[in-house]
Amino acid sequence: MHASRNMGQKYKLWIIFLHLLIITCSSGSRGRELVGSGTENKILEAISDENHPTLHTEHEHEHVHSHMDPSVMVFFTFKDLKVGKTMEVYFPKRDPATSPKLWPREEADSLPFSLNQLPNLLKVFSYSPSSPQAKAMEDTLRECESKPIKGEEKFCATSLESMLDFTQTILGFTHDLQVFTTSHQTKSSVTFQNYTLENIVEIPASKMVACHTMPYPYTVFYCHSQESENKIYRVGLGGENGDRVEAMVVCHMDTSQWGHSHVSFQVLKVEPGTTSVCHFFPADNLILVQKLQQHSLATM
Ligand SMILES: *[C@@H]1O[C@H](CO)[C@@H](O)[C@H](O)[C@H]1NC(C)=O
Repeated sequence: MHASRNMGQKYKLWIIFLHLLIITCSSGSRGRELVGSGTENKILEAISDENHPTLHTEHEHEHVHSHMDPSVMVFFTFKDLKVGKTMEVYFPKRDPATSPKLWPREEADSLPFSLNQLPNLLKVFSYSPSSPQAKAMEDTLRECESKPIKGEEKFCATSLESMLDFTQTILGFTHDLQVFTTSHQTKSSVTFQNYTLENIVEIPASKMVACHTMPYPYTVFYCHSQESENKIYRVGLGGENGDRVEAMVVCHMDTSQWGHSHVSFQVLKVEPGTTSVCHFFPADNLILVQKLQQHSLATM
């Protein structure tokens, strides 16, 4: 398709530009607290090197002892957020070479992003309507068009620029933005294992925007912000195999507005509103908060 070839050309230029940016701004900040000006560059740095979701919808991972898909093993309750606690956690690892790429806003905005345009979009990307990729696109568009729950604002961003615009409407000025991501400190192919919580630091924030990458031919962030109380933590994890992860955790203290079918309730075997729900963030998801003037990190 000519349109996509053209896009490919432009995309190549864009990716060279991105690499320049990344080289310019990556001065070994493995801690993943990306503060200050040049927010876009820092977000790019955070999400560039690892773990973009692919359009693979099949579950490649082995089912260990649980009959549940391990990829949902990211939820736990607040009372388990304790140093020394061991739990099974799934962290997706994906091949950057085959993962969806971030598109510049002009490219993303040149395509419709709506469910009723799906047949046309499938043609643009040359996916047959019966393919798993078509199913993934449909699911993502449907999720993006679903109504937010009470007290929630949500937005699917198809570019970094539109993600920052949305974040600004929620948090106010973005020059004091802090961006947090989960960071893998060791290289390994293990995605599902027992981890022990080694240290827990609360990130103080009055409001947050969380952005989750969605399966789509290019990078789409599902960003949302909830009025109800959330707590943000950076948790040092030690894996059974020696892996080390600096993982971001968000705890939702009030789940009363969540739908009964929310997967976390199935995993934790609890009813909405009866317990807090915490979850680990995969490496390509972002937590954006306003930087607080007074840095008082409380260690638990
Ligand atoms: C985690 O540890 C428990 C208890 O030792 C074990 O039963 C379980 O299989 C382990 N999980 C994984 C994914 O290795």
